[in-house]
This record gives sequence, structure tokens and C-alpha cells, in this order.
Amino acid sequence: MTAARAAAPLLAIDALSVSIGGAKIIKNLSLALGAGEILGLVGASGSGKSMTALAIMRLLPANARLTGTVRLRGEALGDKNETELQNIRGRDIGMVFQEPMTALNPLMPIGDQVAETVRLHRSVSIAEARRAARETLDLVGLRGAQGAPDRLPYELSGGQRQRVAIAMAVVLEPPLLIADEPTTALDVRTQAQVLQLLQELARTRHMGLVLVTHDLAVVAGVTDRVAVMHEGEIVEEGATRQLLHHLHHPYGKALLAAADLQPKRGPHGGESSAVVLQVRDIVREYPRRRRSLWHPAAPLRAVDGVSLSIHAGETVGLVGYWRSSGRRRVRFGCWVRNSQPPPALTFVGCAARSKSYSRTLSAVSIRSGR
Ligand SMILES: Nc1ncnc2c1ncn2[C@@H]1O[C@H](COP(=O)(O)OP(=O)(O)OP(=O)(O)O)[C@@H](O)[C@H]1O
Ligand SMILES: [Mg+2]
Repeated sequence: MTAARAAAPLLAIDALSVSIGGAKIIKNLSLALGAGEILGLVGASGSGKSMTALAIMRLLPANARLTGTVRLRGEALGDKNETELQNIRGRDIGMVFQEPMTALNPLMPIGDQVAETVRLHRSVSIAEARRAARETLDLVGLRGAQGAPDRLPYELSGGQRQRVAIAMAVVLEPPLLIADEPTTALDVRTQAQVLQLLQELARTRHMGLVLVTHDLAVVAGVTDRVAVMHEGEIVEEGATRQLLHHLHHPYGKALLAAADLQPKRGPHGGESSAVVLQVRDIVREYPRRRRSLWHPAAPLRAVDGVSLSIHAGETVGLVGYWRSSGRRRVRFGCWVRNSQPPPALTFVGCAARSKSYSRTLSAVSIRSGR
């Protein structure tokens, strides 16, 4: 047990069980977390990680039955009424939900959404709330035009939405943050940045962090302790370093083994086989809102001179950082899907190569079957 936990557990869960319609989802789960401590809650899909997070927040479906206790700084959350719980959520416990869009209002600008969280819990002016929102959007890496407060969630990439969700969860500097798969939708570099940010928040603000993930690499890099869930139970728990080296439970071992798995390559195919799809010099532009009466706005170039061929038996991964190519990745996928059906498998774009040809093409780089 770490010193932080021994002194005063920020979060103490004792014999928590949740059942829905007769099915036992969480079984007799006990956990404790100290201020400034990072706990990784890991387990396969369906093992009950999100349900545990929602049970802590008391955000379960109406037909769920919960027993056991959850204490925040010694106070049992089960004794609180709904109004008190609403005050606790956001102010004392921040939550980053697994699907960022579920936490965001699709019709409200992101700056207003973060500011609204502030105004819900603190009596501050709109200007002050907006200032706090701006600072927090900066903190989570949404700077400049990317984090423009008037942007709507549907105009953002998945990773950008995830950052807005994190901004909303941390803007009030809650002592406890529960982050449910906060980096699953992100590329590796952005994932590392977001994890570093969460880690810094835990250290500098002395914030307890429950990091829900199925990714043991994330756990190994960031957490102090780890709890392994399997079918609604914690089957193994301990300090991260020791636990990852000495997993005892067969399920924990299997999870660790799966983390090292590499995708299986097919024996056939590759660049020597026939080309089944060829894409040449695709450009896709979207009109932008006019900001001047005299000058039309330059269109947004979402796909810029992409060329690619796919051979029989080959799997091509489209990868790239969200900053430079998140939108392109999606749009390009749409174009290829919408292109001519087989057997006319060649699709040729309409624009000449541009300067950013090589940069855009770098978004397409992984091939299997070779
Ligand atoms: N609203 C619901 N009603 C009934 N059962 C549910 C409900 N939500 C989740 N479950 C069940 O609870 C179990 C745990 O789900 P949970 O969402 O906690 O899994 P998880 O570990 O977060 O998985 P993942 O990694 O896929 O997000 C699953 O078997 C799921 O089918
Ligand atoms: Mg989940």
C-alpha cells in the first residue's frame, strides 16, 4: 500500500456488486485509491470496467441494483440524494466517458460546453468561465484554430473530441478523475501526449486517477497500481511493476500474453501479385464558411493528391497523426468506398500532384502480406 492510500483513501470501494435484470455484472469488488495515485483498471471487453466506473459515479441504468459502498474522502456516496450527487459529479469526480460524443452536446460550441461545466458548479461570470474553458482547452493541447471555442463537436476529429471531453472533466480540478479508455481512438503519438497530460494532472494537482483500459502497455507506462478485472471480479491487484512481472491468475497471464501478439501475416500476396485497386492523385475539397463579403473562403483541402495501389492478398493500413491527416484518413476511406464497384477496380482522381503529396502519402504506410 502506498503512503497516500495509507494516510487517507480518496476513494474506497467496499464489496461493490451490480446486477442488471438478474445478471451479476460486478461481483463483490473492493478497491482503494489515494490522492495523486494512478490506478489502472484493466480487463477484456465486457469484464465490467465501464460498469464499475459508472457505479462509482452512481450513473447506472434504472433497472440496475447496486450493493456495497463507495466512499469519497470518507463520505458514502450511497447516502447522497440526486442533487448532492449532481454536485459531486464534475466538481469532485471528473469522468471521461468511453464514447466522447455521449458526453458532448453536438449542437453546442466546445468553448461553451467547457464553460457551462464551470458555471454549473461555480458562481462565476460568463467571461471568467470562458477564460477557464480557454485555458483548459489549451492545457489539453487544443490550441489555436483547433481549439477555437466556436467549433462544434461534429467538426472535430475523434481525438480532438476526446480532448474536449478531458477538458470538461478536469476544468474544475476535481480530486478524482475516472477516465474510461481515454486514448483508444488516438494515434500513438497523441495517445502518449494525452497519457502524459493525465499523469501530470495527477502529479501536479494531487489528483487520484482511475484509468480504465484494456491496454497493458498503457498501464505499464503510466499507472502506480493495477487491478485486473475478469467477469465482474478483480482477480489480481498490486503495484504495477511487481504485478506485471508476477501475474498469478491465468486470466491476467493470458491478457499479458495477448499484449505481445503480432498480427498474423498471410503467406500469399504482396506487390508481386495483381493490383486490385489503384487510386491516383485524389483531391477532395470542402467549402468553408465565408468570412468576408468580397473574398470567398479558400476551401478546406481534406485529401490532397493521394495515390495508392493495393495488390491481391494485401492489407493496407491507413495511419497518420490526427493533426495532419485525421480528416484525410476518413475522407479518403469514403472516397474509395464510393468509387466504382468491381470489376472496375481502378479509381483515378482528378487533380495534379501538389506540394504536400509526399506528406499526405505518408499517411498510408503499413502493408501486410509481404
Ligand atoms: N445497460 C446494460 N444492461 C445490461 N447489461 C449491460 C448494460 N451495460 C453493460 N452491460 C453488460 O455488463 C457487462 C460489463 O460491461 P462493461 O461496459 O462494463 O464492459 P467493459 O469492461 O467496459 O468492456 P469494454 O472494454 O468493451 O468497454 C457486459 O457483459 C455488458 O453486456
Ligand atoms: Mg467499457
